[in-house]
Amino acid sequence: MRRSVGNGLKWVRGKRNIMPISDISDLSLHSLTRLDGKRAVITGGARGIGLAIAERFAEAGASVLIADLDGRAAQMSAADLARRRGGVHQGAALDVRNSEDFESIAKLAESARGIDIWVNNAGIYPPRSLDEMSEEHWDLVNDINLRGCFLGCRLAARLMSPPLGTGGVILSVASVSGLRGRANLAHYVASKHGVVGLTRALGIELAPKNIRVLALAPTLVVTPGVEAAQANSGGDSGDAYRAFLDRLGATIPLGRAGVPDDVARVALFAVSGLAHFMTGCTIPVDGGAIA
Ligand SMILES: NC(=O)c1ccc[n+]([C@@H]2O[C@H](COP(=O)([O-])OP(=O)(O)OC[C@H]3O[C@@H](n4cnc5c(N)ncnc54)[C@H](O)[C@@H]3O)[C@@H](O)[C@H]2O)c1
Repeated sequence: MRRSVGNGLKWVRGKRNIMPISDISDLSLHSLTRLDGKRAVITGGARGIGLAIAERFAEAGASVLIADLDGRAAQMSAADLARRRGGVHQGAALDVRNSEDFESIAKLAESARGIDIWVNNAGIYPPRSLDEMSEEHWDLVNDINLRGCFLGCRLAARLMSPPLGTGGVILSVASVSGLRGRANLAHYVASKHGVVGLTRALGIELAPKNIRVLALAPTLVVTPGVEAAQANSGGDSGDAYRAFLDRLGATIPLGRAGVPDDVARVALFAVSGLAHFMTGCTIPVDGGAIA
């Protein structure tokens, strides 16, 4: 038996006890997938996977703040989003290596009456063999991918906790490289394993504050970043890039590389009411790659 007591909490009578739990079973699929009135920040959202996530969140009714190293691209992407999807969206400069930049985002978020969703998406993946990997290479990748994710989680948790907030969802874009190894990317693999661990730890720690913490683990996704990385490692002709995508796509059970919206749809699921009882875990979005 369920009886509403407000605030989404209901008294649930089991065999032995009666306890208040957050039960949203009565909500329609439509309302569970909507983000109307929600405010979301997406780091590295000016292009690629982050931009695709911004698109789906805006379509679902959220106001999006795109925070990117390239502040101008972030503003242009936000303006484009507003033009095509409607709603109020903003772009701002943020280097996730810099804690002062996070304070500027905090001020923007506070003036917009807080945030409900924070996506740690900014990341880089420059290939490097171990014998060519300097400490600077290691630090750069781990500063952006892991330390930047920690700084994002810490700020998001502060904004989502009383007195500023009453909960929310933190979603990090990890990688299948956070769940398995890969040659010539030891710094990246280590950073993404770190993101998966951070998600586990904070999922537990922030649950009492009504903050869910999840991560996604995409396989190869066709983005401007992948194209640039491929060009930098010598495959700069269109044919070489297509051959690279075909070769890697063939190793994925569903037979192709992903596109950014493949990840964005799962991101929408993760932050929506559909995933109301999920926290502390990493969801593969990989066409079966790690199966
Ligand atoms: N594309 C893939 O195959 C793939 C697979 C698994 C995981 N991922 C992860 O997805 C995320 C996005 O990847 P993508 O392929 O869309 O990348 P991308 O290079 O196409 O876009 C990344 C965005 O992040 C921004 N950025 C870079 N450094 C930043 C910094 N220091 N501070 C703030 N913003 C910064 C860039 O300006 C850019 O707009 C990354 O975390 C990446 O590790 C990508």
